[in-house]
Amino acid sequence: MPDATVSSADAPTGNPHLAPYNARGLKGRILSGVQPTGNLHLGNYLGAIRNFARLQDDYECLYCVVDQHAITVPQDPALLASQTREIAAAFLAAGVDGGKQIIFNQSMVPAHAQLAWVFNCVARMGWMSRMTQFKEKAGKDRENVSLGLFAYPALMAADILIYKATHVPVGEDQKQHLELTRDIAIKFNNDFNAPDFFPITEPLIFGAATRVMSLRDGTKKMSKSDPSDQSRINLTDDADAIALKIRRAKTDPLPMPESEADAEKRPDADNLLGIFAALADREKTDVVSEFAGKQFSEFKAALTELAVARLGPVGAEMQRLMKDPGHVDAVLRDGAARARALADPILDEVYRTVGFLKP
Ligand code: TRP
Repeated sequence: MPDATVSSADAPTGNPHLAPYNARGLKGRILSGVQPTGNLHLGNYLGAIRNFARLQDDYECLYCVVDQHAITVPQDPALLASQTREIAAAFLAAGVDGGKQIIFNQSMVPAHAQLAWVFNCVARMGWMSRMTQFKEKAGKDRENVSLGLFAYPALMAADILIYKATHVPVGEDQKQHLELTRDIAIKFNNDFNAPDFFPITEPLIFGAATRVMSLRDGTKKMSKSDPSDQSRINLTDDADAIALKIRRAKTDPLPMPESEADAEKRPDADNLLGIFAALADREKTDVVSEFAGKQFSEFKAALTELAVARLGPVGAEMQRLMKDPGHVDAVLRDGAARARALADPILDEVYRTVGFLKP
């Protein structure tokens, strides 16, 4: 039998880190992390968690609840533990297969922090000082934030590179941290004369609908720290709460936008249309034309029905899992054991490369 023809899309790229995955019919290895701080909302779901399930057929996936990142700002220990379980429950509820993929929490795999220390010594003060997330979180109180908040991106680089992950799904706000991860990989490979040791990790960016704005102000990001609960749809909201929040969502007095260009000038309408398109898995233009010139009340009724249909089952499954913490903990423990088996040999190689003696 002749060899199967290889289309150009499937052709080997020459990246030595991809070859073993391509040989298994996969596109690479993904790592992503979510912080266990505050309630998950529609923005987290559409921007990150929903995509996690969609990637699992094409990539080997590690999904990490980054509890060590969470403590860069003060946390209530009991709440941190329950929110760690809640994020893991959300991964499972969104359809990630915890048996096939790896779901775990960061602190159960010590190699992350161990590699992060090496990266603290690779990354430069100047690089870290330019991180916009640090500048925003530190604000004017720079003298008083934790050293961990400053080093945060080096730990994130370690999360990714301790598995030599080839791809990371990222939202707009994490692009700079991924750039830094690439800079750290390049500098490590150079400094230790270890060409290609760490991969230059690629970002995976999702569609436009990943930016979900507040329901009370279409110019502000939907956020767990917004004091108004009406500004966001939480993953655990029931149908009544979802309906009420959409009914009260801010709009303008005009009928629905006639075109995408019209929508773009009206942030509240634009946001709701984007949410509809994302939930329905349709193009925004298509949704704009379906509702063009109609009343908001009619659109909001359709949006409510769609949101309840799509989010209801996820929220209900999360609630069910949260009542069974033993099961969630078992998933995390099993995931962490498999993660350690991948991470430990890579840490050994790093230690040898750096010149640390073996115990
Ligand atoms: N910094 C990310 C955020 O705040 C969370 C995170 C930590 C992460 N480690 C990661 C994301 C590794 C992707 C890959 O959203």
